[in-house]
Amino acid sequence: METRILAIESSCDDTSAAVLSGARVLSNLVANQKVHEQYGGVVPELASREHQKSILPVVQQSLKQAGIKLEEIDAIAYTRGPGLLGSLLVGGSFAKGLSLALNKPLLEVHHMQAHILAHWIEDGSDIPEFPFLNLTVSGGHTQIVRVNSPTEFVELGSTLDDAAGEAFDKVAKIMGLPYPGGPVVDRLAKEGNPDALSFTRSNVPLYNYSFSGLKTGVLNFLKKELKKDPDFIEKRKEDICASVQRHIVDYLLAIFEEAAKKEGIQHLGIAGGVSANSELRSSFEKMCTRNSWKAFVPKFEFCTDNAAMIGIAGHFLFQENRLSGLESVPKARFAI
Ligand code: KG4
Ligand code: ZN
Repeated sequence: METRILAIESSCDDTSAAVLSGARVLSNLVANQKVHEQYGGVVPELASREHQKSILPVVQQSLKQAGIKLEEIDAIAYTRGPGLLGSLLVGGSFAKGLSLALNKPLLEVHHMQAHILAHWIEDGSDIPEFPFLNLTVSGGHTQIVRVNSPTEFVELGSTLDDAAGEAFDKVAKIMGLPYPGGPVVDRLAKEGNPDALSFTRSNVPLYNYSFSGLKTGVLNFLKKELKKDPDFIEKRKEDICASVQRHIVDYLLAIFEEAAKKEGIQHLGIAGGVSANSELRSSFEKMCTRNSWKAFVPKFEFCTDNAAMIGIAGHFLFQENRLSGLESVPKARFAI
């Protein structure tokens, strides 16, 4: 019988639990924390408290949906990091408690590795081959990663300041749009002209990124325009969103394409919350078609934070018998 893994993800503001049988997802539940919306960003202390409230019902519900009893679980996978320390502590302590009570092995998962390994979830679609090259774009990270095996990752480049998701969120905040800004910008951009405004790209060594200049560029530009017309943002929000999104997507893919050519890798993927972005998904597929590369784009439910990806990462660790002990501590910063 396939190994059954209960997975727990609590690195930021989503409490999630999943059950996997082998590489198949039997259930994958995510409880979003609405409490942060009023603050325009995640408040770490509130996030930990919300995790404490949600974790038990979310785990119970995921077992119920999977039709699996707690005793039938073979191992427990959880996110060790990177993420918010308090949030990680809640999921980690819960996983350790279960492991101790059930006498089942514990698997500690790297959140950014898990985003990438979501491509290996069995759902009827093709599965990538190694070596694989991934552009991981989330609220906290932007990384180009070479994947040599399910447990061997090499970071080729990353952002030197803001992450791509952060750039979306910060621009949205400047415009007075709700948090998280990424999905809102994506929606408004559909009605706007991506060539209406242009922003300068930061020049940093390959294969890195810098997004803080964009945020300042947008801020200065809007300040100037608002002096001339106080309704500028309201009148042009679609064009601003479309232009910012075009800038971010083109920048992300230009560097990623160079890295893929240099590495000579033909199986490529995008992952993380920003991989839910409609323009990034379609432009990435076009880039791969142009170069005769195979493109891997995760299903929407596996883009933003979810426990199914922690489960698939745990599945590979379990296969290699890389079990962890109760003594390991959460890691807010955690190199891939
Ligand atoms: O991977 P994720 O759920 O959490 C982290 O690990 O950080 O990523 C969250 C990020 C947020 O910055 C959010 O604005 C962004 O992903 N995001 C998007 C879209 N959906 C989520 N950004 C652009 N377009 C989207 N459709
Ligand atoms: Zn994430």
